[in-house]
This record gives sequence, C-alpha cells and structure tokens, in this order.
Amino acid sequence: MKESAVKKIAVLTSGGDAPGMNAALRAVVRTANYYNIECYGVREGYNGLIHDDFLKMGPRSVKNIINQGGTILKSARSAEFRTKEGREKAFANCQKYGIEGLVCIGGDGTFTGAKIFNEEFGIRTIGVPGTIDNDIFGTDNTIGYDTALNTAMDAIDKIRDTATSHNRVFFVEVMGRDAGFIALNSGLATGALDILIPETQEDSIEDLFANFKTAEKSGKSSSIVVVAEGEKLANVYELAEKTKEAFPDYDIRVAVLGHMQRGGSPSCADRVLASRLGYGAVTGLMDGKTNVMAGMRSNDVVYTPIEDAIKKHNEINQDLLLISEILAI
Ligand code: F6P
Repeated sequence: MKESAVKKIAVLTSGGDAPGMNAALRAVVRTANYYNIECYGVREGYNGLIHDDFLKMGPRSVKNIINQGGTILKSARSAEFRTKEGREKAFANCQKYGIEGLVCIGGDGTFTGAKIFNEEFGIRTIGVPGTIDNDIFGTDNTIGYDTALNTAMDAIDKIRDTATSHNRVFFVEVMGRDAGFIALNSGLATGALDILIPETQEDSIEDLFANFKTAEKSGKSSSIVVVAEGEKLANVYELAEKTKEAFPDYDIRVAVLGHMQRGGSPSCADRVLASRLGYGAVTGLMDGKTNVMAGMRSNDVVYTPIEDAIKKHNEINQDLLLISEILAI
C-alpha cells in the first residue's frame, strides 16, 4: 500500500457550483477510503470550516451522485473566511478533527482562500478546478465547463429554431464571468453570426454592423449573436438597442441564458475529469504536495502552484473566432 503524508483529510466545494463537483467529491472520498485515510466532508464551503459543519464520509456517503448536478455538500462564497478571525476559527476546527490536508473544489476565489489558509496555518491544501467558466490556468478544462458548454449549445440551438421561423435577430448572453470560453465555443458550435468576448480587445459596434450587412447581402434572414456576460463593448440589451437604431427593420430579441448553465447532470467528459482529478488530489496530498492544484494537461494529471492557477490565464484560441466568422456566412 502507498505511503501517505496525511492520515486525515477534509474536502469542500466552494464558489459557484459546477456540474461534476459531486463526481469529484465521490472520487476524493473513495480514494481516501481505499488508502485508509479518514475523510470529512465540510458543508457550504469555507463557512462549514468556520462553523464546525463537518461530517465523516465513507464510500456509501457518496453513492448515486456521480450523475448529479450541483453539490451535495452545498457551496458558498464565504465572506467570513476573508477575515483573519474567520480563518482562525476554521483552523481551530481543523485541529479539533485532526485534519492534515484539505481538498478545495472550486474556482479562483476558492483557490485564493486555500492559498491564504495554507500560508497562514501551514495546513496542506490542494485545489481541484470546478467552475463552468474554464478560467483556471494549469488545466486544459475545468470541471463543469463541458457540461455548461453543451447546455448553452442546446439552448442556442432551440433559440435558432424560433429565430429562423420569425426571421429574427437574437442576442444571446452566456455566462463565464470575465472569460469568453463558453461564448466562443458555443457560438462556433451553433453557427453564430458574431461572437463577442472580453478577450478580444478590438470588438467594435461597426464590425458587428458590418457582419449584419454581409449577412443581409448573402440572403440570411435570421441571425444569432453570442455575447459573453463579461463583454466590455456593451451588454446584450445595449447591443440590441444600438442594432435596432441602425437597422430599424430588424425584429430583435434578447435571451440571457443565466444559471441554467450551472445545472444539470454532468457530461461524460466532466465525470471522467472529476474522477481523475479527485483521485489526483488525494494521491497528491499523500505524496506530500501542498498549495498546488491538480489539473489535466494533454490527458495527464499535473500539479500547478495554486498561485499560478489563480494569476496566470489560459489563452483564448483566436483562430476559433476567424473560423467562426468564415463559416457563419
Ligand atoms: O463562476 C461561475 C459563475 O456562474 C459565473 O459564470 C457568473 O458570472 C457567476 O458565477 C454568477 O454568480 P452568482 O451565482 O453568485 O450569481
């Protein structure tokens, strides 16, 4: 049996929930069990650490959850954990249970909390990237992104049906906070006329209008424009208004997909990713790793300093924008 640097660990889910968090939790709990490591689940993210909401977990605690969206541990963005007093209470509870390692499943806010907690109290921490935004460095994809992308694609396909029937223009807003991964890929996959993402510096209303004119010339009678929620040029409503002013004959509608993108049963890719990273997080702690994130790069589990995971960025593939533009007309 593998040697282990830790004998008792805790796991929590924090920040915006993402499909596949449950599959990651299942992997953490069952890997710990396999290697004779005691495992506690912590409810409602860092709030549970502060308010002593720990529950001992075993293989049966995570039965039938690999296919469930959301997180059975619940999640929170803890304001209290941002204070030194909050973190001191959290550490006192970790000591009470003899926790030597903490698996933090979430996004950059979660990782920032994990990093500070590790630096202040020396407790071993390891991050698992769980967010639909895909905005974490050190992993090709985050857990939940693939499912959210497919949810967005399905929704936009449905919008296309009605857009086509009524010869309408739709502005569709998708999630992603400051990142445009969901917008770019769902836009390409649904044949959007234009895709507006925050990573593109030179987005302009003139370019958008030029695309409408080209579409008109080529005989297009309906169009979809996918807009990332973090787009800097304007939000979907403002874009719709400006377009109406410039093209008064257009019948324009706006659809904001919103939180439906965070729900639903995780895709196969997300379940596999979550299972591998949950396993990798526990074995990483066993190997003495700390203050790192377990991510997947080119189909291998890799460990990245948590600071890099937070601060560095995966680049958007600009080719996809060009391909989308060429194929949309
Ligand atoms: O980070 C995930 C995410 O869904 C973002 O895409 C979005 O900007 C944000 O969370 C919404 O947060 P809340 O659920 O707090 O409104």
